[in-house]
Amino acid sequence: MINDYESLYLVRIAHPRVIGLLQQKGGVGKTTLSLNLAGYFASQGERVLLVDADPQGSSLSWSAAREDACPFMVIGKAVPNIHKDLPEIAVGYDRVIIDGAPGVNGLIRSCLLASDYVLVPVQPSPFDIWACADAIEQVYEAMTFKENLKATFVINRKITNTVIGKKVFKAFSEQEFPVMDSAIHQRVVYAECASIGKTVFDLTDAKSAQLEIARLAKEIIQQQERVAA
Ligand SMILES: Nc1ncnc2c1ncn2[C@@H]1O[C@H](COP(=O)(O)OP(=O)(O)O)[C@@H](O)[C@H]1O
Ligand SMILES: [Mg+2]
Repeated sequence: MINDYESLYLVRIAHPRVIGLLQQKGGVGKTTLSLNLAGYFASQGERVLLVDADPQGSSLSWSAAREDACPFMVIGKAVPNIHKDLPEIAVGYDRVIIDGAPGVNGLIRSCLLASDYVLVPVQPSPFDIWACADAIEQVYEAMTFKENLKATFVINRKITNTVIGKKVFKAFSEQEFPVMDSAIHQRVVYAECASIGKTVFDLTDAKSAQLEIARLAKEIIQQQERVAA
């Protein structure tokens, strides 16, 4: 019987622009960053598909809470064959964002293999540094099956100029795993707009949040282009 990875290896992922927000720890910002990155790319005129791969369905609940038309498509797909189905589902979209599930299971592996760029959100806390070892191991395992897979940490809920923030950045940088230059700060607006089915790009008074999400999105694009070159 072939194992999970062997069967995954047989599948070619054709879609070039799939960003997976993945981290086995819950509550780190996978959904928050997925929705806001989707909001940014849609605001740039891209056709964006957000795949909610978490059985909890937070992104789906978010879209249900939204009153007006969503600028991007949200679908639920919390099954471990995303990597196989995605090329077909993604036809007609410019960009796909996968809001990953917590836990260590076949679902995360499938999300990893469906992605060509993995963002691992981490919060500036010692607990996240300790917990990220598993995330790194999973990504490295997936890389053996998908050479071009690119993965980086992104610091979420940063609090400016705190000692813990600086220490954590240094600790993550020492993990031999790249860290995004752009960090996302702790801002009430992220939680507030999520509760009403909005992203920061739907608001007129969330410039700082819009700027930092846009900066992160541009850094991802640059890195993806570097991988593709
Ligand atoms: N940068 C941020 N600033 C403020 N609150 C945040 C931020 N990122 C996430 N949150 C809040 O933290 C909680 C967990 O975030 P979420 O995106 O649901 O994590 P995950 O999808 O990894 O479980 C949510 O209540 C969310 O609103
Ligand atoms: Mg989530």
